[in-house]
Amino acid sequence: MRKPILAGNWKMYKTVSQSLSFVEHLQGLVDDLEGVDAVICAPFPSLYALKSQLEGSSIKLAAQNLHQAEEGAYTGEVSALMLQDVGAHYVIIGHSERRQYFGETDESVNQKVHAAFKHGLLPIICVGEDLSQREQGTTKQLVEEQVRAALSGVTADDVTRLVIAYEPIWAIGTGKTATAQDANEVCAHIRSVVGEMYGKEKADGVRIQYGGSVKPENIEELMAQPDIDGALVGGASLDPGSFAKLLQGA
Ligand code: G3P
Repeated sequence: MRKPILAGNWKMYKTVSQSLSFVEHLQGLVDDLEGVDAVICAPFPSLYALKSQLEGSSIKLAAQNLHQAEEGAYTGEVSALMLQDVGAHYVIIGHSERRQYFGETDESVNQKVHAAFKHGLLPIICVGEDLSQREQGTTKQLVEEQVRAALSGVTADDVTRLVIAYEPIWAIGTGKTATAQDANEVCAHIRSVVGEMYGKEKADGVRIQYGGSVKPENIEELMAQPDIDGALVGGASLDPGSFAKLLQGA
């Protein structure tokens, strides 16, 4: 059985002090997190401080991006080694906002997946279609291409350690959530693609999240779906009370 994983993607919100205050508040709201992997995807500046604050906690940290190079003259960039050093356990790779605004490609996503694994970081790989692709009925084809490209060269041992997040772009930040059935259909297709690449046993071991306007009000219906193993949440993860409800609903 796949353990649920609920990740809050804070994007470009929260200073270090606000991040620490969030965790202090959250820890007062939830104590038993045995049934779910809780992940906070904080901006870079907060990771080291949160690492200290979360010492002994089951809550894990994630970065929201990384550079694929080991090190070098890449002004403003952050490497996998640096992220591991400041306490990141996971790293989001290929978020649609990075593909849209920062030129992320299927190829760079794959390079970053390998860089992450090289330094012990677990990728949360984002895939998903835009509204025109949804309306044209090419969602599954697009998502399949993204998954196959992202997983190129990933070993069978590593593939069950990563997470794939299906995030329809038209549902991100819009309040328009995919129906649980539609979300599950695409997540099931992702799982079938992994099965074609690695076999059914490995595909059954990969955790697949849904992301796109997930709220405490819809988390349980989404989590009731057979091929949805968690959620990658933006706006609703910024408030500790809301995040606590999402964790309890997962
Ligand atoms: O990475 C998760 C994010 O893209 C979803 O955002 O605000 O629709 O939950 P939101």
